[in-house]
Amino acid sequence: MQFDLYERPALLFGLVFVVFLALSSVVAIAPALDAQEKYEPLPASEPLSPKAAHGLRVYIAEGCPVCHTQQVRSLAMDSQWGRPTVAADYARLRGMSWWQETPGVLGSERVGPDLSNIGKRQPSEAWQLIHLFNPRAVSPWSVMPRFRELFTVDAEPPAGSVVVPVPQRFAPAEGKVVATERALALVAYLASLKQAPLGQPSQVNTAPSIVTGTGAGLYAVNCAACHQPTGEGVPATFPPLKGDPLVNAADATAHIATVLHGAEGRVIGGVKYPITMPPFGDQLDDEQIAAIVNHERTSWGNHVSTVTASDVARVRKGAAP
Ligand code: HEC
Ligand code: HEC
Repeated sequence: MQFDLYERPALLFGLVFVVFLALSSVVAIAPALDAQEKYEPLPASEPLSPKAAHGLRVYIAEGCPVCHTQQVRSLAMDSQWGRPTVAADYARLRGMSWWQETPGVLGSERVGPDLSNIGKRQPSEAWQLIHLFNPRAVSPWSVMPRFRELFTVDAEPPAGSVVVPVPQRFAPAEGKVVATERALALVAYLASLKQAPLGQPSQVNTAPSIVTGTGAGLYAVNCAACHQPTGEGVPATFPPLKGDPLVNAADATAHIATVLHGAEGRVIGGVKYPITMPPFGDQLDDEQIAAIVNHERTSWGNHVSTVTASDVARVRKGAAP
């Protein structure tokens, strides 16, 4: 018999192989090519700079995706990390080279927070560097490992090097902590992780925010990394807001203006801080800033009059050029 598969194993294996090819084309290869064709990057998203692209390699090499995801689900508990992720958010990711596959930044374990929008949430380079050098210096209960290999300790750092303002308790006894080129590339990559606005937001299931709507929740997400959940700051690195005269002033104008525009180089309680406070005017609206300001004015023993969104709007307008 010509088509007797029992008699002709080559025919059997040939047939199985053809069916295998056909099936994989239909269920895997064709959909993948189709997706690659269809998913344009979001118009407002930007390609990685060469430095940030180097940083993505460091991110993969250091194993950051083992503990961090870059995928926000449309669940209320995820809303603190940003808007729900869409496929187009990954459209700029390509194979790392001809023999290396697309980096697996999506991750699956959430030991640490989702980093899809960390560039907006924590724009401070200094904070990122301190945190990578020793997470416990800014987040006392963190289980994230130190990435000491990204830093060197120099008695006299050469001109142009980036010295990390590590809080004294965590700094080496001698010499200054200097960020290597790999550390700076990694931080440039983290700074580039900003969710681009969607063209048609109505298509996306945006879950209501349970955490981020309140002053305490907004403070936890935007301010606590530096000023700490206790409002006590980190000695000589981030100023305390607990008992701070500016936060406790009856006139809240300077308090609101600081949150809108950031601050740099002040002497607070006799201490000059080595780090810049980032401005929040662009990413938080008047209502959110009022909620945060009020949280600070009524927590940790602070006890002064509260403000409204229109107070924030007034300060926002007043300081505009
Ligand atoms: C063993 C798990 C683990 C690994 C590996 C790890 N992290 Fe983390 N990460 C955490 C945890 C837990 C936190 C939350 C506590 C903290 O802020 O340190 C965190 C917090 C962060 C934050 C702050 C997030 C926020 O929302 O404030 C950033 C940024 C970050 N990690 C970046 C990295 C980078 C970059 C790497 C790789 C070099 C890395 N992490 C590796 C566990 C990890
Ligand atoms: C990257 C770390 C960082 C983050 C995040 C941060 N701050 Fe600050 N903040 C600072 C530093 C550093 C200063 C001191 C600035 C200076 O030296 O002029 C400061 C100063 C302040 C002051 C003024 C204190 C004074 O007496 O002048 C207020 C108020 C304040 N921050 C509120 C906030 C609020 C509200 C948020 C969140 C929306 C926030 N900060 C987020 C680092 C940070």
